[in-house]
Amino acid sequence: MGGINVIELEIVADHESASARVAGCIVEQVRREPASVLGLATGGTPERTYELLVEKVRAGHLSFSQATTFNLDEYVGLQPAHPQSYHAYMRSRLFGEADFDSKRTHLPDGTADDLAKAGEQYEALIADAGGIDLQLLGLGANGHIGFNEPGATEDSRTRVVDLTEETIAANARFFEARDDVPRRALTMGIATILEAREIVLIATGESKAEAVERAVRGPVASQMPASFLQQHPNVTFVLDEAAASLLGSRA
Ligand code: PGA
Repeated sequence: MGGINVIELEIVADHESASARVAGCIVEQVRREPASVLGLATGGTPERTYELLVEKVRAGHLSFSQATTFNLDEYVGLQPAHPQSYHAYMRSRLFGEADFDSKRTHLPDGTADDLAKAGEQYEALIADAGGIDLQLLGLGANGHIGFNEPGATEDSRTRVVDLTEETIAANARFFEARDDVPRRALTMGIATILEAREIVLIATGESKAEAVERAVRGPVASQMPASFLQQHPNVTFVLDEAAASLLGSRA
């Protein structure tokens, strides 16, 4: 990866507008190339984006029938049927609601006996598909992308990681008890993400403002994994005003 590029910023009023903008990027990509390879994200932030995509498909304005997808990550140890697994998230919010071909939707296998091998196989599947055309990302308040927590290195690939206490606390809202949150995940690495041809990151709300500011303006450093995106030539951050609030007038 080359030097430092300027991350393109699109700042809109609110979460709804940010979701519409990101859905628009995906619609454009899939209309241009129906057999696109999409990298997808989970979490609270992209939920509305997925609803908007489902509406487009139901209205007959879009088809994912030829698309291939790779999700960023999955918890270690949760069966795909577990309601808090990312397999279940994707099924209930997008794959089961629109016209995806289930043979072409992929998530890391967090239940594999050999997780290191599962990571290597995931990388091989992405390569066999020709690489990712458009990667959607959320942003952790601690700067993580996928589950690449602070300390993740630039050359990291799909592998098992330990979740930080901050991430476990942030994700506890989706589980009955904090102790139910898995402590490990299988995640694409920074190198995997940076190989996508185009990257769109969505971040909304004040809780993301500091991470946004450090990712965009700060030094490129493992302690702020999203800062590695400065090394990619085609990245757009779609932000609402709250998430952009620390960027100052230069935004
Ligand atoms: P959130 O998570 O959308 O639930 O805030 C974002 C992330 O951790 O990537």
